[in-house]
Amino acid sequence: MHMPANTLLPHYLFPILFLLVVSWPAGHADHHNHRHRHPFACDPSNAAVKDLPFCKVKLPIAERVRDLLSRLTLKEKVGLLVDNATAVPRLGMLGYEWWSEALHGVSNVGPGTRFGGDFPGATAFPQVITTAASFNASLWEEIGRVVSDEARAMYNGGMAGLTYWSPNVNIFRDPRWGRGQETPGEDPIVAGEYAARYVRGLQGNLPGDRLKVAACCKHYTAYDLDNWSGVDRFHFNAKVSKQEMKDTFEVPFRECVMQGKVASVMCSYNQVNGIPTCADPRLLRDTIRGAWGLNGYIVSDCDSVGVLFDNQHYTATPEEAAADAIKAGLDLDCGPFLGIHTQGALDGGLLKEIDVDSALVNTLTVEMRLGMFDGSGDDVFGKLGPRDVCTRSNQELALDAARQGIVLLKNHGPSLPLSQRRHRSVAVIGPNSDVTVTMIGNYAGIACGYTTPLQGIGRYTRTIHHRGCSNVNCKNAHLFGDAITAARQADATVLVMGLDQSIEAEFKDRDGLLLPGYQQELVTKVAASSKGPTILVVMSGGPVDVSFAEHDPKVTSILWVGYPGQAGGTAIADVLFGTHNPGGKLPMTWYKQEYLSKVPMTTMDMRSNEATGYPGRTYRFYKGPLLVYPFGHGFSYTNFIHTLATAPAIFTVPVDGRHKNTTTNNAIRVTHAKCAGLSLGLQVDVKNAGSKDGSHTLLVYSTPPVGHWGPHKQLVAFAKVHVPARTQLRVPINIHVCKFLSVVDRSGVRRIPMGQHSLHIGDIKHLLSIQSTPLGVIKS
Ligand SMILES: *[C@@H]1O[C@H](CO)[C@@H](O)[C@H](O)[C@H]1NC(C)=O
Ligand SMILES: *[C@@H]1O[C@H](CO)[C@@H](O)[C@H](O)[C@H]1NC(C)=O
Ligand SMILES: *[C@@H]1O[C@H](CO)[C@@H](O)[C@H](O)[C@H]1NC(C)=O
Ligand SMILES: *[C@@H]1O[C@H](CO)[C@@H](O)[C@H](O)[C@H]1NC(C)=O
Repeated sequence: MHMPANTLLPHYLFPILFLLVVSWPAGHADHHNHRHRHPFACDPSNAAVKDLPFCKVKLPIAERVRDLLSRLTLKEKVGLLVDNATAVPRLGMLGYEWWSEALHGVSNVGPGTRFGGDFPGATAFPQVITTAASFNASLWEEIGRVVSDEARAMYNGGMAGLTYWSPNVNIFRDPRWGRGQETPGEDPIVAGEYAARYVRGLQGNLPGDRLKVAACCKHYTAYDLDNWSGVDRFHFNAKVSKQEMKDTFEVPFRECVMQGKVASVMCSYNQVNGIPTCADPRLLRDTIRGAWGLNGYIVSDCDSVGVLFDNQHYTATPEEAAADAIKAGLDLDCGPFLGIHTQGALDGGLLKEIDVDSALVNTLTVEMRLGMFDGSGDDVFGKLGPRDVCTRSNQELALDAARQGIVLLKNHGPSLPLSQRRHRSVAVIGPNSDVTVTMIGNYAGIACGYTTPLQGIGRYTRTIHHRGCSNVNCKNAHLFGDAITAARQADATVLVMGLDQSIEAEFKDRDGLLLPGYQQELVTKVAASSKGPTILVVMSGGPVDVSFAEHDPKVTSILWVGYPGQAGGTAIADVLFGTHNPGGKLPMTWYKQEYLSKVPMTTMDMRSNEATGYPGRTYRFYKGPLLVYPFGHGFSYTNFIHTLATAPAIFTVPVDGRHKNTTTNNAIRVTHAKCAGLSLGLQVDVKNAGSKDGSHTLLVYSTPPVGHWGPHKQLVAFAKVHVPARTQLRVPINIHVCKFLSVVDRSGVRRIPMGQHSLHIGDIKHLLSIQSTPLGVIKS
């Protein structure tokens, strides 16, 4: 039945619709004089609201939130519990879509952001696993700063939100995980530092409580399985011991909240020990908000409140699901579930209005901190517009990040770098040799533009291009002939192989770690017939078992480039021809395929178990031989030598005298130590003994005294330093003793083991004796 449209519209909507129409950016036409979006709330031209207390910029935010809350009806409140938050025209508030994404550039994965008009694209940085491989924390923060400039510009133009559900800081626990690419890798300390730095970059690190954009660390917690062997994330119950939870899974989230001061955390789809994370008050209310002091909001994964009812049948009714989630500490639902079922939960007495209010205090506070209730939009970020997106310097940073993230896995001869003089022609082979969107991985947007590997190499030398396989699945050998012929003729051969989102993605974990289809055969055959050096370039998020190439003398060099972003082809060529000296290191272990047979993806244990033959996970706990490349592996074109300049042999941990002696196994509780400012200082000399300038990643590991529940080795500090050829640099390293020299006991208590710890830097080993002051000596 057809009805005249306006008979359905309530009259109060008319002014709003009118305003929307006239104030939406005119777009294409006035590029240099772009208009701002209409204020979200507290429009200075709206006489009815502009002087209400919640609009008064000078009042404290808590007071403004209280005032606004006191004016909302219950129905209006319920409409604000979902990502597609309804408008409150009565109070001059527009609708707001909370869901935007900015994992490694402004993305259009969430409905809050779209491209077009004045904003055809945004800078597409490398996928996170690649950027992590740089081990350069200031780069991580700088990328966050640039991404949030572009996000603010798009918000001003009416194309994006201010609440970004990034980064993903789950531990890359299993090499098969389809979303491992989105994460900073397998080490909790690297992931924690990445989280804090990227979040600070995004949120602007502003004085007071202000936010440039609001970031979100996800997915809390123990979520790192998408769909494996009949188990999917909507039904997965992760069984996690207290020890593993504290020692591994919660570390990046703790750092994100406490160091990064993130404005949001997202709970995950899966259950942990039988309770859906989004309905677990111990995780949300007690840990994130209580123990870590989140100043921000907790959001569900998309439809995860629906999932805990519909898929997991965790509650008998949808109203109970709504009540459980809100009472557990959830503040916002991605999806419609709370909008539909919260009223019923209130009517049925499962929930009180005050529970809804405490959720809204958290979301409204973040909106106020973002300036959404400040009216005009003339704040410091109000001037950002289309000309601040895809700028030359932003795109240069994307290129720099790609260069810094490339890892040189093998360099026999050495065959790299190539030279323009000697390698006048290069055969460029492989299904990823001329790709664009493959280079930006998932949770991406629309890039400003691309340089493919073929184009990048073509800037240095003449190329002969044959894919060899029509795509990464490489189902047959039909196209091998031309590729082999090209390799026979050219002075050097570059094979760009690997994976893409058809192999590893959200919803899709891998079954194995080998190159798909006939890729391995293509590499071997091409290498066998190459006239010159053969370089294998692996483009992938997760690790690949390339042992065949590591052992093949005809494959002279191997590079891992991750998903290197929009400028990936330039970065690859710069490394191949030596205009950039590679300094990336693997942020995750590369296992051999056989490793998988002993490791069900559903087993969350990080620690090995001799009784069951379970080998353990990651460099921290796996000691077996089934490795292709270890965590932290990566060569340079130069040669760095370390020496320890200064390091204490004894370190004394002051113990707070108020506590009675609860030392167990000669390890003191971290909560009993005086941790503030307690750091161990070392100085390491890094000498560049080669003839090329280069950046070096200094990795400092520690092994705790034996018998102390700990990993056999743990990264405790890292630093990225640039060292010109034939020079030496003294690098100060500070190790946070309570955080990083501690281990977690079986009951989940973090303790500092007394006795001999050993620190390792490259080949150097330094023994450090840790002792504590006797109880009672320190006065409280
Ligand atoms: C958001 O809500 C508006 C109105 O309340 C509706 O028209 C729109 O379809 C919703 N969008 C989504 C993505 O659900
Ligand atoms: C770290 O990244 C920044 C870019 O933000 C760059 O300027 C710096 O040179 C990098 N550090 C090293 C040692 O490569
Ligand atoms: C998981 O994978 C199976 C088979 O590969 C597929 O049938 C199923 O729909 C997938 N489930 C989800 C939730 O993606
Ligand atoms: C605590 O008690 C244990 C065992 O009784 C003892 O060995 C240890 O030295 C005491 N620790 C301190 C810091 O006094």
